[in-house]
Amino acid sequence: MFEHLTALPPDPILRLLAEQRQDNNPQKIDLGVGVYKDAQGATPIMQAVDRAERILLETENTKTYVAPAGNAGFNSSMAKLLMGSDNPVLESGRLTVAQTPGGCGALRMAAEFLNLCKPGNKVWLSDPSWANHHPLLNSAGLETVEYPYYDYENCGIRFDAMMDKLESEAKAGDIVLLHGCCHNPSGADLNQEQWQQVTELCLRKGLLPFIDIAYQGLGDGLDEDAYGVRLMAEKMPELVITASCSKNFGLYRERTGAVMLLSANADQAAVAASRLFSIIRGCYSMPPSHGASVVDLILASDELTTVWQDELAAMRQRIHFLRGAVVDKFVASGIDRDFGFIQQQSGMFSFLGINPAQVHQLKKDFSIYMVDSSRINIAGLSENNIDYFVNSVTQVLKA
Ligand SMILES: Cc1ncc(COP(=O)(O)O)c(C=O)c1O
Repeated sequence: MFEHLTALPPDPILRLLAEQRQDNNPQKIDLGVGVYKDAQGATPIMQAVDRAERILLETENTKTYVAPAGNAGFNSSMAKLLMGSDNPVLESGRLTVAQTPGGCGALRMAAEFLNLCKPGNKVWLSDPSWANHHPLLNSAGLETVEYPYYDYENCGIRFDAMMDKLESEAKAGDIVLLHGCCHNPSGADLNQEQWQQVTELCLRKGLLPFIDIAYQGLGDGLDEDAYGVRLMAEKMPELVITASCSKNFGLYRERTGAVMLLSANADQAAVAASRLFSIIRGCYSMPPSHGASVVDLILASDELTTVWQDELAAMRQRIHFLRGAVVDKFVASGIDRDFGFIQQQSGMFSFLGINPAQVHQLKKDFSIYMVDSSRINIAGLSENNIDYFVNSVTQVLKA
């Protein structure tokens, strides 16, 4: 049976990671994989997580099954984190939350649910979007199409083109996927006025918004980054949200995330919940417990929440600092090219804006690793390597 299959090419990010690991150049820089790194280039366990894990080790007294919806405390804390703790939507009976194996698990469960509502339904994705959005949605049976988003020439958002496309081509019932904050891969986010316009468009045309938020707290702040989610939760009758705790709690390998469905009323929410939990039961049955228990412990404790928020603020400030520093160093290098957009953008990623041949040359001659699109993980830079990075890019651009 298996002999009929043909192998697929390796995933570009994982291939890059393997190449980078084999490179013995002590000056090598990995700007590929999207994990936060500190000044030493490490991705340590956050202190709040470490403390919660110790408590868990002392207090956890069973490994029996959890429910398909996962940890109820986690689900309620995640809803508060995203919606704001005094949001009336929390008490409305309209919100269904399920803990999932990471943001990917949330995306796939949301996709399965949406495909159940309308098989083969169309999802509008930003051009470009996170590469994994397409397969996660397509695997459930949904069709993905694109709206214009990033302007590679001017390094901003093609907002008018995005609105024109959705206005002229999206049909009632279509789904529009938006990045809650820190757009991956571009770092270019909608501003508040643009969120309002997209909300108005979705309402008027009967489009269903689907917000994927994987970097809450790493852009402008926990509340600021949830602006779009909260606005749409207030205005829209229905909304789908997927969230990840991989980056903002540093729980990557613990696979911790949540899917949320906002229904038009409590009766429909009860039906949506029964369908979502049945989809989960038929897929992985129930989510892994550890990461969500950790988040639950942190968010249920004022003390641990403060420790976590301080650490998250330090990560966010470090990314802001690196964005500013790299722009300053490009200016000081005298290169005739404006990299100022890097400072305007948000979160871990930006496109450097160089071509694949230049990306290749940076890898070959300088051991600097990034994906072909020239998306860089800003957090892969540090005080120790930023000069080398800017000098190398400058040399490649001048060649
Ligand atoms: C936009 C976006 N959504 C979702 C995810 C999924 O995250 P997780 O690792 O929690 O599955 C990521 C991870 O990189 C992401 O960038």
